[in-house]
Amino acid sequence: MTDSAVSAHAEPEDADVEATLRPRRLAEFIGQPRVREQLDLVLQGAKRRGDPPDHVLLSGPPGLGKTSLAMIIAAELGAAIRVTSGPALERAGDLAAMLSNLVAGDVLFIDEIHRLARPAEEMLYLAMEDFRVDVVVGKGPGATSIPLDIAPFTLVGATTRAGALTGPLRDRFGFTAHMEFYEPEELELVLRRAGGILRVDLRPDGAQEIARRSRGTPRIANRLLRRVRDYAEVRADGAVTREVARAALAVYDVDELGLDRLDRAVLVALVRSFGGGPVGVSTLAVAVGEEPATVEEVCEPYLVRAGMLARTPRGRVATAGAWRHLKLEPPRSAAGEQPEPPAMLFGP
Ligand SMILES: Nc1ncnc2c1ncn2[C@@H]1O[C@H](COP(=O)(O)OP(=O)(O)OP(=O)(O)O)[C@@H](O)[C@H]1O
Ligand SMILES: [Mg+2]
Repeated sequence: MTDSAVSAHAEPEDADVEATLRPRRLAEFIGQPRVREQLDLVLQGAKRRGDPPDHVLLSGPPGLGKTSLAMIIAAELGAAIRVTSGPALERAGDLAAMLSNLVAGDVLFIDEIHRLARPAEEMLYLAMEDFRVDVVVGKGPGATSIPLDIAPFTLVGATTRAGALTGPLRDRFGFTAHMEFYEPEELELVLRRAGGILRVDLRPDGAQEIARRSRGTPRIANRLLRRVRDYAEVRADGAVTREVARAALAVYDVDELGLDRLDRAVLVALVRSFGGGPVGVSTLAVAVGEEPATVEEVCEPYLVRAGMLARTPRGRVATAGAWRHLKLEPPRSAAGEQPEPPAMLFGP
């Protein structure tokens, strides 16, 4: 398993803290300037017209603020939010019950919407488009379907895999927000805000160091802040300085780039066992003892962003940067490696 100090997945310990640290309004939401601007327009436009806004899809790697944004959407609209998830809606009947209980203007949040079962997904098409569900009564040849009107609502779907959504479902969202990894400066703001709420004696150089190593992810930044605070209180005088942050992060196996144990395991397998690739993601996942989905949705996006890994049609490939990060000499053929200049051709 991934080291819980750094994995982007939510851990049980996060639940309470995340509730306290969650930004409540759009203005409090740090970073993602494009998404914020676009969403602000969508919400204001709808409010002016007095209609519920179009359905919104939030897509991006774990821990970037999708759930937070869903709650913010409801708060900005002054609407109630009902929360469920793809895997929880096992039977279409579960979804029908949720839909028919909605009040006009409600926000329905479906997390992990790419994991909806097929019948539930098909029911959702009609609900999103016509605010209607077809409830099937009875079984076998005598079964009839009764159309049922539902209140106009706004669906907010979240997914770590927009590519796994079927076309018809994706097309029914009026607005898709693509969440990007955060810049270190933005994460510093996230940390300063969290440090204030949690009353951590966080110094600017300490915040800078943690931000730089948080894999572009607010959830990880907040979690590392808590781990560094433990260290600062137990082994130092409580102040989170750069030096304290460095020492603490070494204890938690967070490397200079913020890569965690699983990230490094993936790179090491790719380079050592498969000569730098190309190799399929399932083979790579078996080599590190993880689910392919975890490697694909949790590790790879950041490794790609950090310029360590390339996804090619033939499989995953380690870049020259990955070899160097592991303190190995990249082969000439490594992706991103410059070919030697043909010196002889141009002469002195
Ligand atoms: N823009 C932000 N500003 C401040 N804090 C943030 C921001 N985005 C996320 N956070 C912090 O990170 C935590 C995790 O965010 P959130 O639960 O919304 O992520 P998520 O994208 O829904 O993750 P998952 O895909 O795992 O469900 C929040 O509780 C909050 O503390
Ligand atoms: Mg979430």
